[in-house]
Amino acid sequence: MFDDSTGDDFLKACSNLNNMMVTKGQIDASANVLNLGCGNGTTAIWLSGNRNWHVTGVDLSGVRVQNAQNARARLDQAAQEKLAFEEASAADLPFDDASFTRLWSQAVSTTYRKGIRA
Ligand SMILES: C[S@@+](CC[C@H](N)C(=O)[O-])C[C@H]1O[C@@H](n2cnc3c(N)ncnc32)[C@H](O)[C@@H]1O
Repeated sequence: MFDDSTGDDFLKACSNLNNMMVTKGQIDASANVLNLGCGNGTTAIWLSGNRNWHVTGVDLSGVRVQNAQNARARLDQAAQEKLAFEEASAADLPFDDASFTRLWSQAVSTTYRKGIRA
């Protein structure tokens, strides 16, 4: 989210948007978050590290999930324990109902079947 403090800096704008979503979502430290369409895991890692949440990232792309797992592997043990990445489609999630307390999805464009639950 661009504002007077960001100028044209895209990464600062992304950080602003994330902080706004955290605030508006009223997400507390006990959150167990499903990050749908996690890509390379950048946001999942930020959410987990900055907010101390458990975050599971899923993405359709095996390449991106591998990138996310590689990034996770470079973190310390405590940080790794709060993060997981899996290849999966939003249309066929491999989790039981009510496995998560929050769903986080950004910059994901896809189509969903009616009635999907996370
Ligand atoms: C533009 S990237 C955004 C990644 C990440 N959310 C971010 O903000 O950096 C969109 C991602 O959504 C994933 N995606 C699209 N449709 C999906 C679906 N049905 N299930 C899981 N992932 C999906 C794509 O594979 C891609 O990695």
